[in-house]
Amino acid sequence: MSRPTTPTPQDRPLGEALPAASRDAAERLDREELRALQLERLRTTLRHAYDHVELYRVKFDAAGVKPEDCRTLEDLARFPFTTKADLRDTYPFGMFAVPMDRVRRIHASSGSTGRPTVVGYTENDLSVWADVVARSIRAAGGRPGHKVHIAYGYGLFTGGLGAHYGAERAGCTVIPASGGMTARQVQIIQDFRPEIIMVTPSYMLTLLDEFERQGIDPRTSSLKIGIFGAEPWTEAMRREMEDRLDLHAVDIYGLSEVMGPGVAQECVETKDGLHVWEDHFYPEIVDPLADDVLAEGEAGELVFTSLTKEALPIIRYRTRDLSRLLPGTARPAFRRMEKITGRSDDMIILRGVNVFPSQIEEIVLATPGVAPHFQVELTRRGRMDHMTVRVEARSTSGSTERDDAAQAISRAVKDGVGVSVDVRVVDPQTLERSLGKIRRIKDLREK
Ligand code: DLL
Repeated sequence: MSRPTTPTPQDRPLGEALPAASRDAAERLDREELRALQLERLRTTLRHAYDHVELYRVKFDAAGVKPEDCRTLEDLARFPFTTKADLRDTYPFGMFAVPMDRVRRIHASSGSTGRPTVVGYTENDLSVWADVVARSIRAAGGRPGHKVHIAYGYGLFTGGLGAHYGAERAGCTVIPASGGMTARQVQIIQDFRPEIIMVTPSYMLTLLDEFERQGIDPRTSSLKIGIFGAEPWTEAMRREMEDRLDLHAVDIYGLSEVMGPGVAQECVETKDGLHVWEDHFYPEIVDPLADDVLAEGEAGELVFTSLTKEALPIIRYRTRDLSRLLPGTARPAFRRMEKITGRSDDMIILRGVNVFPSQIEEIVLATPGVAPHFQVELTRRGRMDHMTVRVEARSTSGSTERDDAAQAISRAVKDGVGVSVDVRVVDPQTLERSLGKIRRIKDLREK
């Protein structure tokens, strides 16, 4: 399928690798040892799911497979997928595989449409989660004694609490800022001097504006590492963050249905995609339309199976996130997933051309005279869909620069993506700011 790829050279020197002796035992396995561990855990998980969750029993039976039919990792492909709809249909607790008195915590995703999806964790699940987030923080360059400012939202969203317990497990000092109260966040960063910030990239942009509003050069802040995730962001955004903040920007991935943050993490010494913590989460890439498993290196939809979860074992969960699997580098046994370029849900089909917001982000960030704040609006004119990109001017840009920027963006979208769009360069500080996950697309088309 057509998808954006934007390999760009690193501008900054890479960070320092975690010494092998400080890595988890699983990080020191070789690929064959890891695969043996995965198979053993997979077979246990399939059995646990089949025995304790009616939905899995019904689905496996309908597909004519039993847990013991999984004799190799490749046999997993014979098992049915799980979707968000399965979690919604069994709302709230129908997919829990343990009695409620073993469930220590519940999270839920807000669910922009319909019911939220609800997930649960046993004590052991919470401990594994803290371990994988701690491992992620170390891979990002975090060390015991570092202060970690957590600006992911606390609450039912997995971002805040997931990051929190992982940072504590890593031996860091946690500053549980949560989202919002932007001016105060900047003051706390200035006063408490954290080395690390964990936040969505779009909220980091909001914080950057606030630094500047307060007359502080963000490059002078104490921050050395930004662990950004929960939404797609591009290599162009990495450069923007690294330049404006003088830090290492690395990517963290996860989703509540599979665990929360910490399913995969980019290593600071390579910044070349995210190592999937495969001792706990088994990744596949499938063709989003034909459902077939694709080979390593091919682009498609990420699918995850949990290997150790007790409260909510998840089998072949269709994430709708688009990526590729690649061999491990900084952690050779673990495969990498390429930085996510978009969700199949976010793909706009405009007059037959696939457009992802991340493609627009690359172009906006490469254009002089405009700020990294933009929104994509979809309307219908007669029977034709139409896209308008609204971008904020930089405060220093005059009318000529604004006109030039609008033309440059529209030309780059036409040349690079293949569609004609309207570009409006609007006044600074007029587009809505993110306080967490940003929504780039405003769809005003009648359904
Ligand atoms: O966003 C978990 C998380 C919190 C990850 C904090 C990283 C940091 P959900 O709310 O369930 O969980 O949303 C999961 O967010 O399927 C992706 O579409 C998107 N997503 C998460 N991390 C990334 C990332 C959390 N690094 C959904 N890059 C996923 C791109 C991401 N998209």
